[in-house]
Amino acid sequence: MSTTPAPDALRYQSGLGNQFSSEALPGGLPAGQNSPQRHALGLYAEQFSGTAFTVPRAEARRTWLYRIKPSAAHPKFQRLDRQITGMEQGPINPNRLRWNAFDIPADSTDLLEGLTALVSTSAADQADGVSVYVYTANRSMERAFFNADGEWLIVPQQGRLRLITELGLLDIQPLEIAVIPRGLKFSVQLLDGPARGYICENHGCALRLPELGPIGSNGLANPRDFQAPVAHFDASAQPTVLVQKFLGELWETRLEHTPFDVVAWHGNNVPYKYDLRLFNTIGTISYDHPDPSIFTVLTSPGTTLGQANVDFVIFPPRWMVAENTFRPPWFHRNLMNEFMGLIDGAYDAKAEGFMPGGASLHNCMSAHGPDNATAERAIAAELKPHKLEQTMAFMFETGKVLRPSTHALECPQLQGDYDACWDGLARIFKTFDTDSHR
Ligand SMILES: [Fe+2]
Repeated sequence: MSTTPAPDALRYQSGLGNQFSSEALPGGLPAGQNSPQRHALGLYAEQFSGTAFTVPRAEARRTWLYRIKPSAAHPKFQRLDRQITGMEQGPINPNRLRWNAFDIPADSTDLLEGLTALVSTSAADQADGVSVYVYTANRSMERAFFNADGEWLIVPQQGRLRLITELGLLDIQPLEIAVIPRGLKFSVQLLDGPARGYICENHGCALRLPELGPIGSNGLANPRDFQAPVAHFDASAQPTVLVQKFLGELWETRLEHTPFDVVAWHGNNVPYKYDLRLFNTIGTISYDHPDPSIFTVLTSPGTTLGQANVDFVIFPPRWMVAENTFRPPWFHRNLMNEFMGLIDGAYDAKAEGFMPGGASLHNCMSAHGPDNATAERAIAAELKPHKLEQTMAFMFETGKVLRPSTHALECPQLQGDYDACWDGLARIFKTFDTDSHR
């Protein structure tokens, strides 16, 4: 696949949910209309819709692309022999699960070959739910890809990535994320060697910022910190293999051109990136700590009012100042279902066993919380203000149960003794001494 020369430092457009416009050549964007009879530069106009035409205006996502060849110019797709690892859902399993870090393969592996499906809420033909993957790769993709099954939230844990998309280029690194809309064609280059990370495939309505309620008009992830690409195109007639994911399967076709030939575009159905270090973290300055929904970066609303299809939640570095409070995440069991990963450092609820590049799963009503070592330390601690540093865990929290794949239940990374981290927690109940009160 053509590797278009790109500037070392990429340019971006600022904001989330904007109606952007960008042209790599003057005259690329038609004036005053979307679909002129003859484009001034001889480009084809193509609408790329992420929502039904008829959804309310606030929900509507579409982008107009002005390109050298329309996407329709392709031969039949053929089913690939090599499919994604772990697409088969495993047997029902209510247990708390945790996985060690997933190894980067020794064999030459691009991001698609290195995708492993871990958990999913539903079949890919459902209109909501999520599927969660880990990726491991040691080679840039030499093909283009689009996913008809949902948008991708990419969370790198190791290695910088360059995302070549139809709408331009995005560079991301660990502690940053990117979101690729459903159906957008893209390819992933590795910028500094082996790469690993997590992907939340969102089958439901597109991610957006959570409501802020009494927090007010600022805070959490601020809209201007999200970055969309600028138009960038490849004018070569480079033949390209194009793979699509459709109802969970990979199919490919061979284009006589590059799909990265969009000279100009305008609209709001765009890829974007965000630096998690810019998150405005809010927490208690008195006692107890709020529910972790206070750490929501992006949300996809579900059909039950206030219950997300998926929330993307982070646990960033932050000051701990609560008085007379058990400071780690409390023991809990919830309706919602929690897939967690660790990008960097250590997570404040687990003294060991939850490692960068690993994962954990706590489904509906699974009781969990800090492990014994963390709980004992927290109860004994002298409470002074201190800053949690060297930490960035995240959670994909869903309203539907996340079912592990057969692969996830059988792979060597699955820890066999996760429950043991809550074994033997000291009984500290101050029992009523019946003898002395007779
Ligand atoms: Fe939890």
